[in-house]
Amino acid sequence: MSAAARAGVGAVEIDSVVKVFKRNRLAIQALSETSVDFREGEFVSLIGPSGCGKSTLLKLIAGLDTPTSGEVRVGGNPVRSPLRTASVAFQKPTLLSWRTVLDNILLPVEIRDGRPSRADRAYAHELIEMMGLQDFASHYPKELSGGMEQRAAIARSLVTRPELLLMDEPFGALDEFTREDLNEELLKLWEAEPKTVVFVTHSISEAVFLSDRIMVMSARPGRISDVIEVDLPRPRTPEIRTSAEFNELVRLGRISLEAAKAEHETAAHA
Ligand SMILES: Nc1ncnc2c1ncn2[C@@H]1O[C@H](COP(=O)(O)OP(=O)(O)OP(=O)(O)O)[C@@H](O)[C@H]1O
Ligand SMILES: [Mg+2]
Repeated sequence: MSAAARAGVGAVEIDSVVKVFKRNRLAIQALSETSVDFREGEFVSLIGPSGCGKSTLLKLIAGLDTPTSGEVRVGGNPVRSPLRTASVAFQKPTLLSWRTVLDNILLPVEIRDGRPSRADRAYAHELIEMMGLQDFASHYPKELSGGMEQRAAIARSLVTRPELLLMDEPFGALDEFTREDLNEELLKLWEAEPKTVVFVTHSISEAVFLSDRIMVMSARPGRISDVIEVDLPRPRTPEIRTSAEFNELVRLGRISLEAAKAEHETAAHA
């Protein structure tokens, strides 16, 4: 059996990864030695203070940047170049201004196959509907609000049905109701088409609602300082947000995040 088959195509291994950014003589350590595995088909959230290296970690997994030391493996294979099986929803939407919403969403399919098939176009329209953009498929990015651009970028990240989905604060620019709706849509999609999701958020309750596990990162240089198992039943419905178990997990998340910040402050004063 190949290493990929053993690990599962969507399994992620972060093995002793360190990331230091060098600019002129200045070195910024974004990640201190980090080792963690994400299981195939798992929904994992990363939470942590601003600048702790969450986006950096996603880029290393996607193969968009390389670790200073250590190794990232996906499906058992070392990541050395941008991964074809992964899709990233970036923190900023990065749509192409000269393409319509529909054509922006179809871009990853064009890059992969040359021309989108009829089924691809149908799926793109399904995603547009799911994101509430059905009246804007032929609009250009400058005609959209910030949250609408973000939703178009999320649809673009889903259109190839990736085995590994890396989402960087995808719902950060949205109002609470839209965000909760899209949380539910995302879970439905994930349940229908199993995939490994690594989801960055600043919202503890969003992380609890979505995840199997929450990784709490300490302030820069980041590392995983705590792991919270979210053993709430699935499928998760909106009502779960009012349950005692849900709110207890949110409370635990808050305590853990506070501890992660304090740990850094102590280190900074040492
Ligand atoms: N390309 C880069 N060149 C130099 N420094 C970088 C680069 N990318 C990130 N950094 C630095 O690495 C650190 C971690 O950045 P990163 O974007 O990963 O944080 P983050 O946890 O995603 O923060 P936020 O919650 O604000 O999005 C920061 O100090 C940032 O300045
Ligand atoms: Mg970030």
